[in-house]
Amino acid sequence: MTALCVSVREVVKHYCLGKVIIPALQGISLDVAEGECVALCGTSGSGKTTLLNIIGCIDQPTSGTVTVVGKPVLTFTDSQLAELRNRAIGFIFQTFNLIPVLTVYENVEYPLVILRLPKSERKARVDAMLAAVGLLAHQRHRPGELSGGQMQRVAIARALVTAPRLVLADEPTANLDSRTGLTILDLLKTMNRQHGTTCIFSTHDHQVLRYADTVYTYQRRVPGGGWRTTMMVQLAWRNVLRNRRRTGMTLLAIVSGMTGIIVFGGFIEFAFVGLRENRSFARSWGIFSSINRGIPSMVWLRHIPI
Ligand SMILES: Nc1ncnc2c1ncn2[C@@H]1O[C@H](COP(=O)(O)OP(=O)(O)OP(=O)(O)O)[C@@H](O)[C@H]1O
Ligand SMILES: [Mg+2]
Repeated sequence: MTALCVSVREVVKHYCLGKVIIPALQGISLDVAEGECVALCGTSGSGKTTLLNIIGCIDQPTSGTVTVVGKPVLTFTDSQLAELRNRAIGFIFQTFNLIPVLTVYENVEYPLVILRLPKSERKARVDAMLAAVGLLAHQRHRPGELSGGQMQRVAIARALVTAPRLVLADEPTANLDSRTGLTILDLLKTMNRQHGTTCIFSTHDHQVLRYADTVYTYQRRVPGGGWRTTMMVQLAWRNVLRNRRRTGMTLLAIVSGMTGIIVFGGFIEFAFVGLRENRSFARSWGIFSSINRGIPSMVWLRHIPI
């Protein structure tokens, strides 16, 4: 049996925006074997980027377990995660995340500098990768001087230059024309075949799907039923904990209001009894008996003949 490169179990991810909880992933499970090429499909907002960020150790789930290249990454420290990301994972971001002050060459070289490779080896690898994505002529340009598609190709070169075990690509062809897109996909597929690189990519593009061994399709779950009730209870409880002072004042106001109603009921009853019987004993005793009996005394008032 082939070893697993990625295992995701019952992963839930909620983002908190102020008092609003946004459920991005709700119990996702996924197994990706070493050397497998997997596509994540789904409507916008279904959580593809969120899932890739969690697998790429950039973000943590709210609950669930995640194993990446055989490591239980949720137990790792920040420095262990950084080491794993540098050595084993190449990430192609949907928004490129290039460093604006560095040239194309320096952006691609950067992960190799972190790995402390000698300069000559860095140059050989960067040149080969820039040639593969067709950007040798642009190596002195800065990201701000490139088109969206060119920036995408720099991001792809930077992700692949370390020859990682796992490549995560968030919509890798979204900004490319179809011919360049196919060249990039061929490059990914070649790495996948020749080096056994595991690839997970998200896409809306049907020609990308042909490159995948397995396709997972996700739907954004529409809030409703039990999920909605659970979320409402969670939201209410969070609000109670967050605004303790306000909650205390509200409780005090409710208790004061109830007490006021009971006392008022007592006075009304006292007035009626006093009017009817005109006895000082009833006048004074009526208040206390009404307070003791509380709200039911108000109900009873309705039966007093005026
Ligand atoms: N940092 C964040 N803070 C708050 N909510 C977020 C954050 N990132 C994502 N979300 C929300 O999580 C949900 C899933 O977002 P995600 O970006 O993972 O979707 P996606 O499938 O990648 O969408 P697309 O196809 O448009 O890229 C969305 O409702 C989004 O608004
Ligand atoms: Mg996305």
